Amino acid sequence: MHTPDTSSPSTPKIVVANWKMHGNLQRNQHLIQQYLQGLQGDMPCEVVVCVPYPYLAQMQHLLAGTALHWGAQNIAKFEQGAYTGEVSAEMLCDFAARYVIIGHSERSTAYCESDENIAEKFMMAKRHGLIPILCVGETLLEREAGVMERVVGKQLETIIRLFGGEAFADTLISYEPIWAIGTGLAASAEQAVAMHSFIRDTVAAADSAAAKRLKILYGGSVNPQNAIQLLHQKEIDGALVGRCSLDAEQFIKICQAAPC
Ligand code: 13P
Repeated sequence: MHTPDTSSPSTPKIVVANWKMHGNLQRNQHLIQQYLQGLQGDMPCEVVVCVPYPYLAQMQHLLAGTALHWGAQNIAKFEQGAYTGEVSAEMLCDFAARYVIIGHSERSTAYCESDENIAEKFMMAKRHGLIPILCVGETLLEREAGVMERVVGKQLETIIRLFGGEAFADTLISYEPIWAIGTGLAASAEQAVAMHSFIRDTVAAADSAAAKRLKILYGGSVNPQNAIQLLHQKEIDGALVGRCSLDAEQFIKICQAAPC
């Protein structure tokens, strides 16, 4: 077992709910009310809710003036134009969204998104003042072959090559091993810490100042039990939570697992 770091974190951890393609107006309202009730008072961490596009207006309505932030799960790589079905970064800003998930493997695999495409979206988010949450991670085959650092390194290097290491300042990266997403099999704290250290070192080699201003989350089967161990690692700045974010009780417990 990796020994938890018991020192207080210098900045609060960030717990992001990724609702994926779940919800409706009524259920969302209920879930957000439960979140707000459960998290009232001293917030143990920063909380962000990333919802499907149609519900951004609802989040703005329900969350403006609260401690919770909201965001989306993707953006177009273009500013505007004839791109049927796409949603621009500027449109997210109309609903005061603050965060956007970029390059989630459920999208990049289903829609064959290249690392270059993802890099363009990452910069588009930044240009509009949104905080990108860049997802990186390897498949089980890649981990078994021992090439996980090469895979994650390539995802980062694409952004570094196109936009420089400074692009990572004040952004979030979420290490999401594909084999851990939705499987109930989270990475161990050791595995996550090792990859988080590799990610920070890779960014630091390109721009050490940016690496200090980067937060690295872990995502993949985070639940109230493993959150305690994961969120107490100093290398892990927070969590990106899928399934358990749809259950208010579990999500609140994950938030409360963050060290105060
Ligand atoms: P699960 O928490 O359901 O494994 O999903 C993780 C994820 O994909 C977060 O973006």
